Formats: sequence, C-alpha cells, structure tokens
Amino acid sequence: MSKSFYITTAIDYLNGEPHLGHAYEKVITDVITRGRQSLGGETFFLTGLDEHGQKVQQAAQAEGKTSRDYCDQLSRSWRRFSEMLGLSINDFIRTTEDRHKRVVQAILAKLHAEGHFYKAAYTGFYSAKEETFLTEKDRRPDGTFDAVWGNVIELQEENYYFKLGVHQQWLIDHIEANPGFIQPTSRRNEVLGFLKNNTLEDLCISRPVSRLSWGIPLPFDPDYVTYVWFDALTNYVTVPVALGDTGPRAALAATLDLPVADGTEPRNDLWPADVHVIGKDILKFHAVYWPIMLKAAGLELPRMVLAHGWWQKDGEKMSKTTGNIVDPVRVIQEWGLDAFRYYVVRELDIGPDGNWTDAGFKSRYQAELANGLGNLVNRSLSMLKRYREGVVPERSDELAAEAGAVARETRECVQQFRLQAGLQAIWAFISRVNQYVDQTAPFKLAKDPAQSKRLDEVLYNLVESCRVLGVLLWPYLPSTAERIYAQIGLQESPNRFEKSEWGRLSQGHAIGTPEGLFPRRD
Ligand code: ME8
Ligand code: MG
Repeated sequence: MSKSFYITTAIDYLNGEPHLGHAYEKVITDVITRGRQSLGGETFFLTGLDEHGQKVQQAAQAEGKTSRDYCDQLSRSWRRFSEMLGLSINDFIRTTEDRHKRVVQAILAKLHAEGHFYKAAYTGFYSAKEETFLTEKDRRPDGTFDAVWGNVIELQEENYYFKLGVHQQWLIDHIEANPGFIQPTSRRNEVLGFLKNNTLEDLCISRPVSRLSWGIPLPFDPDYVTYVWFDALTNYVTVPVALGDTGPRAALAATLDLPVADGTEPRNDLWPADVHVIGKDILKFHAVYWPIMLKAAGLELPRMVLAHGWWQKDGEKMSKTTGNIVDPVRVIQEWGLDAFRYYVVRELDIGPDGNWTDAGFKSRYQAELANGLGNLVNRSLSMLKRYREGVVPERSDELAAEAGAVARETRECVQQFRLQAGLQAIWAFISRVNQYVDQTAPFKLAKDPAQSKRLDEVLYNLVESCRVLGVLLWPYLPSTAERIYAQIGLQESPNRFEKSEWGRLSQGHAIGTPEGLFPRRD
C-alpha cells in the first residue's frame, strides 16, 4: 500500500463558536489536500475538536451544563461548519471519543513503564486560562502577571512530569538535518533559537482530579487526568491507530487496548503525518513537545509542521468582547463559500499575519471574481452560444503555450504550499484572456462573414481557456470549478491537473447553459 498524503489541522477548542482563524486554517489545508488529489495522489485529511481541559469545563459551567452535554451539543455546529467549508475530510475527531482515550492511555502507559515520567511536588503560579504553570520570569516587576494569563493563582500540588532534557540535542539535530521539518524558514529559526538558548524544562503532564476532572484519567494513577495538550496532540495518531495503521499499532502493541473494528483491513499508509497545519501560536507544542512524545513512544516523526500567521480585523486583534470579529458563517451565507475561500487564500500567504477588511473583501469580489473570472467565463460561453449555437469549433492553439505555462506554475505552487502565488498566476492568465477578448473583438468579427474562420479560432481559444481554468481552480474553488465544467457541458469533474492539457475540448462538442458565477454587487 503506498503512503497516503496524511494532513491535519489543529483541533479547535470547543469553548465558543468557530471564527475566521479556524476557517482559514481549514481552507488552506483543504486547498493543499485537493492539490494533492489533483496531482493524482491518495490523501487523508483530518480535523476535529479539542474538548477536554479547564477552558471547556469552565465554558460548560458558565452555561450551566455538564461538560459532556455541552460538548455533545456544541460539537454538532462545529461539524456542520466543516461541511459548510466544503472540506475534503476523511475523519473528524473529538478528543472525548473512546478511541482517543485508549490511544492516549496506551502512550501514557508505555512512557510510564519505560521510566519517562516522575512525580514531584510543585509550589508556584498557575494560569487556569492558559492551563500552564508560570515562573518568576513571567512576573512583572510589581509582582503582577500579564492579562493574557487571566486570573493567576498560587498552587501547591504534586504532579507527574515528563523528562525532556534528554531529548533536546537530538531534536536540534533533527531540525538542522531536515530543513523542511518546520516551515516557513522563519518559524524553523525561531524553534532552533529557542532550543539552542534554553534548557528544556520537564513538562507537567497531569492535573489532579480534585482541581480538574474533565480529562482523560492517567492509566497509572486515578487521582489525575492528562494535561490537555498531551491529550490533544495525540489526536493525530489516534485516527491512524483506530483505522488499523500497522506502524503505530505495533509501536503501542504492549499497552494498547483498542481492537480494530470488524471488517477493517490492516493498512500502513497513514502514519507518519505528512503535514500538520497549525497557527504560529502553537508552534512550540507541535515542533518541540510533539516530536519528543513520539520519539519517546517509538513512533515516527511527522514530516512537516507548517505554521500559518494570524488574522486581524481592521488592523486590530479580533476579540469577542470588543465585537471586532469576522463571522465566517455570515460571510459565506451572504457571499458564497468560494468567495470566502478565494479571499482568505488570495489575501494571505501561509506564514505572515493578515488583515481582514470588509472593503478589501468586497473589492476583490467585484474586481477579481465578478469582473475577472465570472465575466470571462460568462462572455466566452455566451458568445459561443450566440455565434455558433454552442458548438465547439475546430481546435486552435493560439493561447496553448500560455495556458500550459500557467498550468505548470499552478501545479508547482500548490505542491510547494505557495497557495497565494498559485492564485496570482491563475489571475494573471484570466487578465490575459480577458485582454485577448478585447484585442480580437469577436463581437466585431461576428458581423463580417469573411472573418468566420478567425471567429472560430478565437472562440475555441476562449472556451478552451475557460476549461483549463476550471481544472486549475478546482483545488481552490471546487464548486466554481465544477460549475465551469458543467456550463461547458462536460459530465466529468475537473479534479485532475492532467486535464489542464490544451486541446482536450473537441470539435463538435455542445456546451451547456452559461450562468453567472459571481453576480456583480454594486
Ligand atoms: O490552540 N488567525 O485551539 P484554538 C489565524 N486546541 N489562525 C488562528 C487565529 C487567528 N486569529 N486564532 C486561532 C488550540 N487560530 C488547540 C490546538 S492542536 C493539537 C490543539 C488558529 O481553537 C490557531 O493558531 O485556540 C490554531 O492553529 C487553531 O486556530 C485552533 O486554535
Ligand atoms: Mg488559541
């Protein structure tokens, strides 16, 4: 069985409604996934929810619900949200599922048996909001803590710790030997700088049940639940293990109590993950703690951690309390899914931070979707209808070389995670073809019977260019791409880059009915 391209998003905290940041991460992951499919590869795309821990327990309490009821109810709207984004997902994990609990416990039991943990007393400061222990370094000169930590309390308690010191050097070596492991390069340098200039402190992997009950019990001490990050990171192997992936199952065999469902064939195509797509704020968890957890448990490391930047709105941090938010559900309901997908991928490259403005969104919609792509497809197909009764004329190769170049460029961009550059290349071609309409003026040619042959050539180039655009757009705007193909009268899906080859549209083919793709909104 050949390796599937296994790609994941972060799993979102279930303590509120989905926002722009969550939507963006899922959309870029989906574009990468569909890009691989278009190249002909098998893919496996996982997303889901992080349901344990203090944040969620507190959110449930605030609504007067049990944690279980709160999660069961809210998780439905998050699942619908994934459907609304048109994601090509293969599974959706909730960390409260039994399969997940069993995998977390298998890893904990193995690490415990092999001496990676110790129990120790701690006295100091604790941020419940961020679920993390703070040190004197986090304190301001006046003894207070930054507001990001919320209400900081002084604690004295015993916990289990994971010995990280022994892992520091091999991790540095691994990152240095594998330049693609953490992307973009600026993020890789950030992690290397951190690892080279600090001594890793041991990681507290437990919370006493007396203080926090909403978590996965430690298999070796019922007085504790698992630290939510140890629990959450494990989701990425839970699904391969549950689906019968032989590599991670073998590594955990001694402690794993999770039979493969009846009728499931063993497979070996999932783990290791090819890409973990995450935001910059959770890089340390994915590029430091997670590789160490895996190595200690005898599991292979993921091939890449890809960290994207953060969105602001109108130049300010998004915040529910100030009302400065973008609600992706409302934008999609008002403007359509593909308009949303287009804007976020076109506006923000994977890496830097971005800024949403409603004016910017509308202006891209109008200029690039309605007047650019929409107008080109609509006038090309309408002219073929009007002048040739919708029947494709003889092949002509006037735009073949340019179409071939944009197809190569788009394919490469998608493969290299340069999603924004891919859209720029596609839109440069759209402008070129719109310009070709203006230069060749088919509406004038149509008035002169002597120009009939020339009109045939122009119309072929236009309709074939639209078809190629359908193929190139498919990873980004799948339903628009499908609509373009349907309007051209093609029954198949534009879901393979190889279909972008010029000249596939044959003479005599009858197209369907042209319909507006992106209605103008003035
Ligand atoms: O961190 N712009 O969950 P989360 C872009 N449960 N991305 C943003 C963003 C913004 N304004 N705000 C959040 C968690 N994100 C953990 C993850 S993974 C094992 C556990 C991104 O709901 C953020 O960077 O706070 C993260 O990748 C994702 O949304 C989920 O954030
Ligand atoms: Mg967060």
